Amino acid sequence: MRVLGIETSCDETAASVMDDGHVLSDVVASQIDEHRPFGGVVPEIASRAHMARIAQVIRRSVEQAGLTLRDLHGVGVTQGPGLVGALLVGLECAKALATSLGVPFVGVNHLKGHLLAARIPDGATPLPEMPYMALLASGGHTGVYLVEDWDRISCLGQTRDDAAGEAYDKVAKLLGLGYPGGPLIDRLAQTPGEEITFPQALRQRDSYEFSFSGLKTAVAQHVASLGRAPTQAEIEIVARSFQRAVVEILVRKAVRAARDKAVSRLVLAGGVAANQGLREHAARECKAYDLELFAPPIHRCTDNGAMIAHIGWLALRNGERSELAIGPKSSWPLSV
Ligand code: KG4
Ligand code: ZN
Repeated sequence: MRVLGIETSCDETAASVMDDGHVLSDVVASQIDEHRPFGGVVPEIASRAHMARIAQVIRRSVEQAGLTLRDLHGVGVTQGPGLVGALLVGLECAKALATSLGVPFVGVNHLKGHLLAARIPDGATPLPEMPYMALLASGGHTGVYLVEDWDRISCLGQTRDDAAGEAYDKVAKLLGLGYPGGPLIDRLAQTPGEEITFPQALRQRDSYEFSFSGLKTAVAQHVASLGRAPTQAEIEIVARSFQRAVVEILVRKAVRAARDKAVSRLVLAGGVAANQGLREHAARECKAYDLELFAPPIHRCTDNGAMIAHIGWLALRNGERSELAIGPKSSWPLSV
């Protein structure tokens, strides 16, 4: 079954074609350059950029798969959560395409896409069997999820305030580093050196909840206490210390959840899972606690069309269909 996946929930316009769960093409057009002057994603700019690119991105994904639109058997599209105007572009496009081709379409939960992305075959990375514990850390979401099957997922805890990626982006802005902040801070944090201690909220709690707003404030206060713009060396100290605080708490809670639920596999998901420090720390902790770690390739951690085509295929194969009347969902919790 050949399924087209369309993703437009935030600042990447993406489309992918899969054949029975195998990736034939995966096209991502980033909008980073449009949003950079504003230091973050501007929803109106995102919607317009999706409109300008969606047709070409879909055309390229079908061509790269060596197919024509007529060869498709169904369409999966991100219905939420995300920016409503941005989601609307992909959703209406999917409806129009499915209707004109006479094939079914299905609305896909973006979080589910991230949580199952590690199971997409790429010919190199080992794929996790289910059940597994997943740490999902992205620009909009951060939580720990028990994945028992593709449609049996429970959220054990999530952030009470900022998502981890959002904290990265805000701290990078505060340090004058630019956007998006995650990869920039990650790079600076790679060089070993002096560190300071930033708080790790809810560290001792039994819950699997996170909170990153206090950490962000602690960084802001530290930078303000300098009384001048930080030097390069000071920026590196903050980057290292901030990254340690984020990465340690994320891994601590995810590993604890896996052990508490007697699950032997931990999967990393979402844009922050691209973080080198997170991947290294998770590898160390998983080894210490005898857990098997699965970290998908970087391009499957950040937003992509394949993760949506993948869920679209699973849902359509399962007989699921969406009505043409469905609309975008800004929030769509998987379960609590
Ligand atoms: O999953 P994603 O592409 O989009 C959302 O669904 O939000 O995640 C984007 C987030 C951004 O906040 C970005 O700064 C962060 O992921 N990110 C990283 C890294 N690469 C991307 N954060 C930390 N380290 C990275 N290497
Ligand atoms: Zn995402």
